[in-house]
Amino acid sequence: MATKLFLMLILLSHVASSLSELCHPQDKMALLQIKKELNNPTILSSWKPHTDCCKIWNGVNCFRSKNRVGYLTISHDNNLRSKFPLSIGNLPYLESIFFYHLPNLTGPIPIEPISKLLKLKTLTISSTGMSGTIPDFPAQMKNLFNLDLSSNHFSGSLPPSLFKLPKLEMIRFYNNSLTGSIPSSYGYFNKKNLPSLLLSDNQLYGKLPLSLARLNTTVIDLSYNKFEGDASMLFGSNKATREIHISNNLFKFDLGKVELSKTMTTLDVSHNQIYGKFPMGIENISWLNVSYNRMCGKIPKGGNMHIFGVNSFFHNRCLCGSPLPNCK
Ligand SMILES: *[C@@H]1O[C@H](CO)[C@@H](O)[C@H](O)[C@H]1NC(C)=O
Ligand SMILES: *[C@@H]1O[C@H](CO)[C@@H](O)[C@H](O)[C@H]1NC(C)=O
Ligand SMILES: *[C@@H]1O[C@H](CO)[C@@H](O)[C@H](O)[C@H]1NC(C)=O
Ligand SMILES: *[C@@H]1O[C@H](CO)[C@@H](O)[C@H](O)[C@H]1NC(C)=O
Ligand SMILES: *[C@@H]1O[C@H](CO)[C@@H](O)[C@H](O)[C@H]1NC(C)=O
Repeated sequence: MATKLFLMLILLSHVASSLSELCHPQDKMALLQIKKELNNPTILSSWKPHTDCCKIWNGVNCFRSKNRVGYLTISHDNNLRSKFPLSIGNLPYLESIFFYHLPNLTGPIPIEPISKLLKLKTLTISSTGMSGTIPDFPAQMKNLFNLDLSSNHFSGSLPPSLFKLPKLEMIRFYNNSLTGSIPSSYGYFNKKNLPSLLLSDNQLYGKLPLSLARLNTTVIDLSYNKFEGDASMLFGSNKATREIHISNNLFKFDLGKVELSKTMTTLDVSHNQIYGKFPMGIENISWLNVSYNRMCGKIPKGGNMHIFGVNSFFHNRCLCGSPLPNCK
């Protein structure tokens, strides 16, 4: 009798726990498959088949209302050795993928499963060992707004159709091995509004397309590449620009002729072949570096100019005045 009762209690508690389980069975199946594809890394040891993926699985977060997996974070594991898990395409409610500091995650970005994730807003694959080209994410991914593929080993040229992604606002491709030039299509992001375009530390080269004049970026970083020629189209008095970083390239244009936006805080043009004088309003910005260029003339006074030291200005053709030696 006692054993019967005991068995019944066990049965009941099982039924109760599976009834209260939040994890959608299809998502659980996909996650277990992902774990397998990642070769059962220790970081995923909490992913156990008989537990609730929405409650205690490390890096998994669900939408309470729908009981579906919305966020997946896998980070800081040097021993995770595998390719990117293809089963990720079977998590249809996923809004955020955050894969960070996984140096032994290798191979290319599998575009086919990722492009099935129509609700995806944020894709971060950063500081991994992944390589290959950056695919042209298809326009059907209409919720994607943050694409962070920084600090990997991606090569090849910039995908030209990204501008078709209607909500894309942040492109972070810095610190890879990308080559080629910026496609002229990059001037045509939706509403002329792409708040950040971060492409530093690659091997990009060539002239910037004139269409970039249409971009209204808050932060643009093209530093440490091999771009040449004119970059003045990045500037504009009625843009929302706060930061422009173009240091360590081969840019050659008259800085005196650009119009700074009223919102500008940071300008780093060091290590180029930039000439001319300082643009109007330069005294209003709070971080400046024009060193290692070919500029000439008197350094303006007033505003914030007194906070910049010698190494914001040195190695130019003939700049003079405080903090450099007086003009003759
Ligand atoms: C993982 O990658 C790091 C850095 O690339 C490397 O030094 C290390 O040997 C790798 N770990 C394993 C277990 O292979
Ligand atoms: C650039 O990426 C490499 C590995 O991909 C990483 O080791 C390094 O710290 C990154 N550098 C910066 C400045 O982020
Ligand atoms: C840039 O964006 C800001 C705010 O988002 C807006 O006020 C400004 O008019 C835009 N400028 C251009 C040139 O589109
Ligand atoms: C510099 O800032 C002051 C105070 O905010 C403003 O009145 C002035 O118009 C600015 N100058 C330029 C050229 O943007
Ligand atoms: C400006 O850039 C030069 C060259 O990259 C560097 O040596 C210098 O320290 C920088 N100045 C400041 C204030 O960061």
